[in-house]
Amino acid sequence: MPRSLRQSVRADHQYYYLFAIEGVTMEGKGSVRLEGLRKEFGDVVAVDGIDLEINAGEFFTLLGPSGCGKTTTLRCIAGLETPTAGRISISGDDVTHLRANNRNTSIVFQEWALFPHMSVGENISFGLEMNDVTKSEREERVKDALELVELSGYQDRKVSALSGGQKQRIAMARSLVIEPDVLLLDEPLASLDRSLSERLQVELKNIQDDLGVTFIYVTHDQEEALTMSDRIAVMNDGKVEQVGPVTELYEHPKSTFVAEFLGETNLFEGTAHRENGHIKLDCDEINVELNTGAVDSDRLADNASCAFTVRPESMIIPEEGEEECDNMWTGTVQDAIYKGSTTLYEIDVGDRILKVQQQRSNSVRMYSEGDQLSVGFNSNDGEVIREP
Ligand SMILES: Nc1ncnc2c1ncn2[C@@H]1O[C@H](COP(=O)(O)OP(=O)(O)OP(=O)(O)O)[C@@H](O)[C@H]1O
Ligand SMILES: [Mg+2]
Repeated sequence: MPRSLRQSVRADHQYYYLFAIEGVTMEGKGSVRLEGLRKEFGDVVAVDGIDLEINAGEFFTLLGPSGCGKTTTLRCIAGLETPTAGRISISGDDVTHLRANNRNTSIVFQEWALFPHMSVGENISFGLEMNDVTKSEREERVKDALELVELSGYQDRKVSALSGGQKQRIAMARSLVIEPDVLLLDEPLASLDRSLSERLQVELKNIQDDLGVTFIYVTHDQEEALTMSDRIAVMNDGKVEQVGPVTELYEHPKSTFVAEFLGETNLFEGTAHRENGHIKLDCDEINVELNTGAVDSDRLADNASCAFTVRPESMIIPEEGEEECDNMWTGTVQDAIYKGSTTLYEIDVGDRILKVQQQRSNSVRMYSEGDQLSVGFNSNDGEVIREP
């Protein structure tokens, strides 16, 4: 980690925090607030009233399917789009009507957008030149930025002579060298192969931890989001479905969309009925028995539409002689997908296919296609989602 870049960014932030303590402002440098953000393109509502508070120094991810409005939200924060309605604040200041170059944000695109006719060093120092930074300081900061992305000594290389992963690191260096309060990243790893992308995910997270700069990261890849983020906002159709820390979203999804978008799950949809201290969930032909203790029963009126989600890793295949679980089926293994340390089974139980993930070990029996078995879950191991 280059000391001067880290020190200057860190010092800057600490200085700001002191002001925050003094009460000059309540919001840290690099915090971002969106209030009722809306963006229309003709008849298309790309962003449909988003409220978000992103903390200073946070790794925050906008996650959602193609066309849900992630890029548009990011471009509004950067000042590259003018919102139709709503307010954007950065570090406590209203920037809604401020030009992009006065917001102290920086953006990294999926397609890198490097200048092909310039060298690596010229690409990185371009933004500094625009800001009239002296030549000697530019050289120092370019060197630091290259060290940060582990490409020291590459300043004279042609951009065309770089691999995809190297180009993406240079794009990162170019964005970080101007010391932004907020770094906006739009699917920066999407065009890289899986293993390179996974390596850069870790590096990106380390850089963010080191610098303490707010990262707002856009992706449609749930694994990327789960690996890197402090908090995630799951977006759907221009709106935020749920926002929270990674584990909260995974373990307590508030909608079936979130449950299905973030990881694999088994979803049982139906109507809730109360019976002798239990809740019965009628879904299709199946009755799912829930102990009331397992659910927030106040949220469930009789006959309420709801869904129950159980993650594949919470499903159980009891061995012979082992205790059965609360909800059981018999079925046939339709597919056994080997995933290294785990195996994912798809089990046909007649009305549906259940997904079951088992940790591999010497004591765990392995099944193959066509095997008959019992499968189930305990009511405590799933989550009730009340349908709106
Ligand atoms: N300049 C534009 N003119 C018209 N419609 C637009 C424009 N930009 C985006 N849209 C529309 O707004 C919606 C949201 O687009 P956006 O690019 O924000 O989605 P996204 O979540 O980034 O999707 P992806 O994952 O495919 O990049 C889409 O329906 C898109 O077609
Ligand atoms: Mg996009």
